[in-house]
Amino acid sequence: MLSKRMQEMLNSQIKIEAESSQVYLAMASWAEIQPGIDNVTAFFYMHSEEERQHMLKLIHFVNERGGFATVPALPQPQLTFPSIKHAFAALLKHEVFVSESINKCIEVALEEKDYATHNFLQWYVAEQIEEEALARTMNDKLELIGDDKSGMYLFDKDILTISMSIENK
Ligand code: FEO
Repeated sequence: MLSKRMQEMLNSQIKIEAESSQVYLAMASWAEIQPGIDNVTAFFYMHSEEERQHMLKLIHFVNERGGFATVPALPQPQLTFPSIKHAFAALLKHEVFVSESINKCIEVALEEKDYATHNFLQWYVAEQIEEEALARTMNDKLELIGDDKSGMYLFDKDILTISMSIENK
C-alpha cells in the first residue's frame, strides 16, 4: 500500500512524464514542418510516445499498489524553436530535470521505507541514464556540425541509428 506522501510524489511524476510527452510532441510537430529533417521528426514523435509509456507504467503501478493515479491537466509546451540545436538543448535540459524528479521520488521511497516503490523506480533510473546519454550525444554532434548544411543532412540521416544504438546498450 502506498503512503499518501508516496502517492503524491508518484502522481507528480505522472504529470512530469505526461508533460515530457507533450513537450516532445510539440518538438515533433515543429520539426515536421521544417524542410529535410524527417528522421529528426520521427525521433521526436518516438520520444513523445516513449514518455507516454513512462506515464502509463506509473499510472498502473500507483493503481496496483492501492493508490489512485490522477490524470493531470497540462500546460501548453513550447511550440516553436529558433533551431534544431535549440530544440535538442531543451530536450537535454528537460531530461536532467526528469532525472532530478525521479531521484526525489526515490528519496521519499527510502524515507517511507517503501522498498517496492524503490525497486520499481530503478527502471526509471536506468532509463534516465540512457535518455541523458542520448540527449548529450545529440547535443555534442550538433555542436560539431554548427551551421554546416551537409553535417545536418548526415545528422538527420543517422539520428535513428544513433538513438537505437544507445537504447540497446
Ligand atoms: Fe520519462 Fe525522458 O523521461
